[in-house]
Amino acid sequence: MKLQYFSHSSFLLNTGQGYKILIDPFLDDNPTSPVRSHDVDADFILLTHGHGDHLGDTLSIAQRCGSLCICENELANYLESKGLNVHNMHIGGSHEFPFGKLKLTQALHGSCTPDNQCHGSATGLIIMADEKTVYHTGDTGIFLDMKLIGEMNAVDVMLVPIGDNFTMGIDDAVKACELVRPQCVIPMHYNTFPVIEADPNKFKQKVEALGILCQTLAFGQKLDL
Ligand code: NI
Ligand code: MN
Repeated sequence: MKLQYFSHSSFLLNTGQGYKILIDPFLDDNPTSPVRSHDVDADFILLTHGHGDHLGDTLSIAQRCGSLCICENELANYLESKGLNVHNMHIGGSHEFPFGKLKLTQALHGSCTPDNQCHGSATGLIIMADEKTVYHTGDTGIFLDMKLIGEMNAVDVMLVPIGDNFTMGIDDAVKACELVRPQCVIPMHYNTFPVIEADPNKFKQKVEALGILCQTLAFGQKLDL
């Protein structure tokens, strides 16, 4: 599987079977994104919650590509009302898709759409594809059940916010990694706006001191998993 980081919480996963899985596509209004929404194709769009910096360009990309949007129930109903193809899920549930298996986790955060029409629950995503397990925490504060997530899933790659203010900051993110014990961690949700400025190298130093490999990615950088 190949992973590309578009900055903020947005990633594109390309599976060995050729499926394109786009996560939280905040691109056109994102000052740090190296790509525009019309340049990105997706078979599946996975959303952690409805905030504008995650929902992003879902509507235009899904309309153009006919993507299946997979997310928590209330947000899925909202997207369906906009004419998109959706798959409703909820926290704790998992489902087999053509690309592999997806499970939704809790996230300590809100979830309302920019037009204030949909109030659902924020979630994290556990994506199992190509014999890899990727845990995208979504926007969240730290919670002790991350230990359970780590015990029940052999997480290869954890995607964790470090920007503080709206989510975990560096120290809480390091502790979260200690709870989950992934093979590798990639920091996200930082340096998009002044209020979430953070030094990914400071995070890397602290988390690698715990024996957890950290890969900091430049915005747009690709990585083979
Ligand atoms: Ni948010
Ligand atoms: Mn956010």
